[in-house]
Amino acid sequence: MTESQAKAQIEKLREDIHRHNYLYYVKSCPQISDAAYDSLMRQLQELEARFPELVTPDSPTQRVGAPPAEEFKTVEHTAPMLSLDSCLTAEEIAEFDKRVKKLLETDQPEYVVEPKLDGLSVEVVYENGRLVRGATRGDGYRGEDVSLNIKTIKSMPLLLRKSSSPPRLLAVRGEVMMSIKGFEKLNAQLVKDGQSPFANPRNVASGSMRQLDSGVTASRPLDIFFYDILACAGGPEFKTHWQILHTLPEWGLKVNPHIEKCRQIGQAIEFHQRLEQERNKLDYEIDGVVIKLNDLQAREKLGAKSRSPRWAVAYKFEPRRGETRLEDITIQVGRTGALTPVACLRPVDVGGVTISRATLHNLDYIHNLEVKIGDRVKVERAGDVIPAVVEVDKTARTGAERDFQMPDKCPVCGSALTKNGAYIMCGAGLSCPAQLKESIRHYASKQAMDIDGLGGKIVDKLVDEGLIRSVADLYGLTKEQLMLLEGFAGKSSQNIIKAIAASKKRSLARFIYALGIRNVGRHLADVLARQFNSIQQLAEAKLDSLMQINEIGPEVASCVVNFFANQHNRELIQALMRQGVNVAQAEIQTAGVLQGKRIVFTGSLSKLSRSQAQSLVESLGGRATSSISRATDYVVAGENAGSKLAEAERLGVKIISEEEFFKLLENKF
Ligand code: IVH
Repeated sequence: MTESQAKAQIEKLREDIHRHNYLYYVKSCPQISDAAYDSLMRQLQELEARFPELVTPDSPTQRVGAPPAEEFKTVEHTAPMLSLDSCLTAEEIAEFDKRVKKLLETDQPEYVVEPKLDGLSVEVVYENGRLVRGATRGDGYRGEDVSLNIKTIKSMPLLLRKSSSPPRLLAVRGEVMMSIKGFEKLNAQLVKDGQSPFANPRNVASGSMRQLDSGVTASRPLDIFFYDILACAGGPEFKTHWQILHTLPEWGLKVNPHIEKCRQIGQAIEFHQRLEQERNKLDYEIDGVVIKLNDLQAREKLGAKSRSPRWAVAYKFEPRRGETRLEDITIQVGRTGALTPVACLRPVDVGGVTISRATLHNLDYIHNLEVKIGDRVKVERAGDVIPAVVEVDKTARTGAERDFQMPDKCPVCGSALTKNGAYIMCGAGLSCPAQLKESIRHYASKQAMDIDGLGGKIVDKLVDEGLIRSVADLYGLTKEQLMLLEGFAGKSSQNIIKAIAASKKRSLARFIYALGIRNVGRHLADVLARQFNSIQQLAEAKLDSLMQINEIGPEVASCVVNFFANQHNRELIQALMRQGVNVAQAEIQTAGVLQGKRIVFTGSLSKLSRSQAQSLVESLGGRATSSISRATDYVVAGENAGSKLAEAERLGVKIISEEEFFKLLENKF
């Protein structure tokens, strides 16, 4: 490569990196993945290393990040927030270890290993134990003042514990995270509200921190883990990182529990392997491990390069992203009739799982991505969540790509489509085979009636062959009928018939969930089952009495009432009862120690939050209500109990202390 060729390429790379910095940091709307960005950066670093005379002070390699967004006040960090060099192989890690040993002139450096948390990096500053500021990383030197947003994070202490002798100044660095469950729930809500959902939990964490309205941030279930001290004055003297990681929790600052000390680099490599396997079990995203020198003095000796320290390295996992071609977009008709666009992909391996379908959520999401059929796309999965298309490579277009059109009738049954809020719906109900199949699959699923072996393909066949027209028909199926279906041997048919019969005695909670009442998930089904002795009782419940139940709001209550007001649903339940489905008795056996008891909490409890206490009561068969009546069995009086106590006295309701409440649970009261 000649120098002039290199110059042209360097300029192009710088321009691209500048643009992506702006999109990522200023607009919170990245168009390429972190991996693609890192690769641009690496290409630039390599070229600049080969042609050092072409390095200029304004090159992106010469500074740590990008400018912060304009809307927030810019604040200077207490100390620079560096980033990390990353490695992908054990060999690269071994080289890192060799370098460290050589520079320190030792053959036994001690390391600490931690998960590399995939969220948003922030600085939080405490003065005399009081939180005074929170800021995003920004360009590493200056970030955005997001104090208000930071303070909305539930696990973020506003005051340090041990506040008798807090450091005069403490600046800590941590990662704001969104749980995978929280991410899924938020996306479901966004889709419901007709908005474009987020591509991954990291984008939610980052988008939430950059909300100008901290009320929005507060509504997001965010969390934070701390992993570094940027500055500490008038506090303890630290000698090791390990000591820091054990002091932070004493101040009330959360540290990730997956931390280990290693005397050999081999242990760090082993930790990486172990954590990669456990990755799927965690409810938050990690994308590697960070290996850090433990001795702080030794760190000083090694120092830092322009962007990253020499004493730490990120050892990344196999990315859970893959690139492939989007061959088509089909429509999936869900159990409720809602139409969802689904990407049909050329199969691609994404971190050990072959992906051929990914969700595109809704039309809005498709428009935001500007995706066309035939595009090269990136797909990503978080935990075990259904993968999503997260990015389009527009530079790979040939001109043969085409736009997606939403159909004008149900692609499965041909019925007219209607709009219900943000959803486009097939209104045919259970006469639409897609909805029927989905409702049967839901009824048979593990969390519902748990009919082993009645999975996706079999349900398709049963419906397509006209053998079943409702879940009640399942109970009339015979082994002989199943054996006539293609691919069914005597044994497997027999097993399915047995599993169907066994499902007649499931709990009421499972049955309520299996019915697929809108907005009634597994947890609310449990809540409802504890309040009613039979499905008939639930079917007769009025809106008012449903709303009396803790956790049941007006929306859920009206979904329940509407479900049972529907003639078709009533007939279905009767048909199931005629087939011998008998769920009430099973439930009574699970009654808890507070069965039938009505309990009201007042004042603050020392061991539980109010809602934890209420859930506890309900899990033991009782009812936790907020208002006192003569029917109330106990009022539990916590600290600073108010007017409810007087009300209880007036009505002659038994008042007990928090301690007595716990004795009650053990049947000792
Ligand atoms: S230490 C100088 N530890 O990964 C070292 N960083 O570029 C400072 N990250 O955005 C970083 N988990 O915010 C460190 N356990 C961990 C981390 C971690 C995630 C982030 C960091 C930065 C990126 C590395």
